Formats: sequence, structure tokens, C-alpha cells
Amino acid sequence: MIDPDSFRQFEHSGWQNIPQQYHQAFGELTAQSIEPLLDAAGVKKGTKVIDIATGPGYVAAAAARRGAAVIGVDFSTAMIEAAKDRYPDIEFREGDAEQLPFGNNLFDAAVMNFGILHLGRPDQAFAEACRVLRTDGRFAFTAWAKPEEAAGFGIALRSLARYGDVNVSLPEGPPFFRFSESDECIRSLLVAGFAAPKVVKVPQFWRLPSLDSLFESMRDSTVRTAGLLQAQRPDALEKIRDAIRDELKKYQKRNAVELPMPAILSSAMKP
Ligand SMILES: C[S@@+](CC[C@H](N)C(=O)[O-])C[C@H]1O[C@@H](n2cnc3c(N)ncnc32)[C@H](O)[C@@H]1O
Repeated sequence: MIDPDSFRQFEHSGWQNIPQQYHQAFGELTAQSIEPLLDAAGVKKGTKVIDIATGPGYVAAAAARRGAAVIGVDFSTAMIEAAKDRYPDIEFREGDAEQLPFGNNLFDAAVMNFGILHLGRPDQAFAEACRVLRTDGRFAFTAWAKPEEAAGFGIALRSLARYGDVNVSLPEGPPFFRFSESDECIRSLLVAGFAAPKVVKVPQFWRLPSLDSLFESMRDSTVRTAGLLQAQRPDALEKIRDAIRDELKKYQKRNAVELPMPAILSSAMKP
């Protein structure tokens, strides 16, 4: 059974340890959906924006480049420090997506890039995003497409299921691919109080320097998948690593690997 508080604690201690690793492994990848995300939320010069689960602050920085007035929020102090180091002119604040530290009706736009799948109570976070938006304000968020399409997750999870034990004891979270389904995104946004929901797919590619990079990124720069990998026996882990290497060969292009990693981008308006 899901215990949202234990899951939150597990995610929190994970993110506290990996701001640099996350930036190196995922920075160029998650950046690919930023412009479509900001477009879907209607961010332009003068828009008041909250970037929820800002991580190293990439989305907040892109909003500021458009001339928006932006604040980035994350529950990890280490991520907030990394964001402030990277973008000293932007305001960042520690805060929980499930309980935003802001009053009602304050923002014109709220965005969350790959944050929703890390929350124990995602529906509460949608309701919070709706609460802090003004009427006609827009919310947009991204999540990974299903593992059949987001090849990096497909390969890693398939190898884990084949050679490892996926029933190791870890704090259980909501289904990782819940928001890969457009019907579920639309339903959840409507339940949270939003109107006119829309879902599109954003093509993205993960360019990895070597055949070992996917295993290493999953092991060192994620939280949930890393937890699964770290809990495996050493011999199983070696088999998983080899299986991932083998599967990556078909995505090899010259000296690098290029994996399709589409994002599902959902947006809606506060009525
Ligand atoms: C996958 S990263 C996304 C970072 C960034 N938005 C990007 O575009 O790359 C997920 C972020 O969500 C944050 N996070 C997870 N749970 C959170 C919560 N309950 N409240 C606020 N931030 C949270 C983590 O600290 C982490 O920085």
C-alpha cells in the first residue's frame, strides 16, 4: 500500500544527494520540453509564473529569459542551492508542491517539468497549482511517455525485471507512468478544478556518451529507479548492466547513443 509520507521522505533524501548528478545526466534532456511547456502555460513578458519542483531551475531561467516574473520552488534545499548558484538573479524558495507556501490567486501561470511523478499525492499538487493561480491562469506539466516509447526507462525496467528482483522493499509510490496516459491527465486536471485540458506529446532525445551511460545515469542520478538498482544483489546488478548495454547497441550512432524519450505535456486553465 502507498504511504505518501514515507514515499515523500524517500524522494526527499534521494534528491538531497544528487543535484549535480541530476544536472549532468538529465539537464539536456528535460530542457527539451521547456519551451513547449512555457508556451502551453502562456508564459510571456510580464507573466507571473511559479515553477513547481524547479530542481536546478532550468524552467524558471527560461521563463525569466521570456521576461516573465518567476519564482522557482522545490522541497530539496540542495536543489534550491544548486538553482541559486546557477541562476543568482532568479528567486528560488524551498517549498512543497503538495502544500505551496503561497496565498490564493497569485500567479498567471504554474508549470511543473517532470515533477509530478515524484509526488506521493499528485492530485493534491494539482489542486494546489489551481489554488495559487488566478482565474484564467494556466497550468502545464510534463511526465515521461510510457516505457514502450521512452526507451531509456523501457530498457532499464525491462532489464531489471528480467535479471533482478523488482519486489525489493522500497517505499511504494504512485504508478510511475500514470501521467503517460492522456485520458488520466485530462481526468485528473478536471477533478482538480481545471477546465479545457489538453495533452500533447513532445519528441525528445537522450544523447548518451557511452553504452554504460544509461545504467550509470539510472543508478546515480534518479531516485526511484536508483533505489531499485541499489537493492539488487551484486551478481544480478552485473547482469542488468550487461543487458542494458546490449539493448543500447541498437541506438548507437557513431560514438554516442541516442534514445527516444518523449514527454507527455498536459495543460489546462483555471476557470
Ligand atoms: C526530475 S526533477 C525535475 C527538475 C526540473 N523541473 C527539470 O526540469 O529538470 C524532480 C524535482 O522535483 C522535486 N520534488 C520532488 N518532490 C517534491 C515535492 N513534494 N515538492 C517540491 N519539489 C519536489 C525534486 O527535489 C526534484 O528537484
